[in-house]
Amino acid sequence: MGQKEAHMRTVWWEDGVVKMIDQRLLPHQFEIVAFDNEHDVARAIREMYIRGAPAIGAAAGFGMALAAQRSQAATTEDLLNDLRTAYDVLYASRPTAVNLRWALDRMMALATSLREQPHQVVRDALVAEAQRIADEDIETNQRMARYGAELVPEGANILHHCNTGGLATVDWGTALGVIRMAHEQGKNIHVWVDETRPRLQGARLTAWELMQWGVPMTLIADNAAGYLMWSGQVDLVTVGADRIAANGDVANKIGTYKLAVVAKENNIPFYVVAPTSTIDLQTPTGRDIPIEERDPREVTHVLGQCNIAPEGVNAYNPAFDITPHELVTAIITEYGVVRPPYEENLRRVVEQAEAD
Ligand code: MRU
Repeated sequence: MGQKEAHMRTVWWEDGVVKMIDQRLLPHQFEIVAFDNEHDVARAIREMYIRGAPAIGAAAGFGMALAAQRSQAATTEDLLNDLRTAYDVLYASRPTAVNLRWALDRMMALATSLREQPHQVVRDALVAEAQRIADEDIETNQRMARYGAELVPEGANILHHCNTGGLATVDWGTALGVIRMAHEQGKNIHVWVDETRPRLQGARLTAWELMQWGVPMTLIADNAAGYLMWSGQVDLVTVGADRIAANGDVANKIGTYKLAVVAKENNIPFYVVAPTSTIDLQTPTGRDIPIEERDPREVTHVLGQCNIAPEGVNAYNPAFDITPHELVTAIITEYGVVRPPYEENLRRVVEQAEAD
């Protein structure tokens, strides 16, 4: 079995194909898969070989680069038509994480801006742009991590939900990246890791990453989080985000809302760590964010195998929920820590990102 080396990325471009770690198999098997077309990349996103908002965005960027490379178009206009089709294929893969649309829009905008150029120029430029999206993601995460680590007190007990580490991004991580930075700075921290039913991203992926980084951690059943907060064993909660609406409402892994409510009740800071590519100013509030509904089999069967419910039971499986902005203490971005009023302050950081 292979192992993730310290600086191995979650998704990358190699010799004209996209490679990624197959996260469905972790932590028991470590396998790299390769795809040479956008349809397979869309399937890999839908079936969660790769997951986590920034990682999905980077994969989609590479998917567009593959489409450009594969296209038989003899003119730039025909190439743009093929790219529009690839955009739709990739866009349809998962609905909630807006980083997907952000990356696709960025790729399409570049292609359109080069419409007067020969088609080979556009193809090469798209490969380079997808690579830039991936490279920038790591830098962005490390900037967020430095801002976020300032909010982590020495000796803190941190509650974390889902997986927001190197695996959810190209490398380093968002909320887990803050934890990693605080640990590397020598702060004596400890992490309570929510298992994160039904797909167990916490138990399978976050625990695996924290153990590799040497960060002290304890795995808990999701249902233990409320008791730990009430009994004074949690100093802060950190989570990532799949989409942040213009008013600061946050879509994140199902179960996040419950944590935010209990954190507020117990006066525990609740921090969301997300790059500006996760902020969607076109979506006014959390009620306008599409919530992915996945196969109920993920609820009735643990890891698709062991059936834990009566045959034929009715099950429902929303993959994300909305945390209203009133429950969010601060949103940590690569442009600094954003606090209320969110409407105004989120717009400011997005404008800063666009100007850069
Ligand atoms: O369904 P997943 O595993 O893609 O959900 C991931 C999350 O909810 C993460 O918290 C979010 O994408 C932020 S990851 C940096």
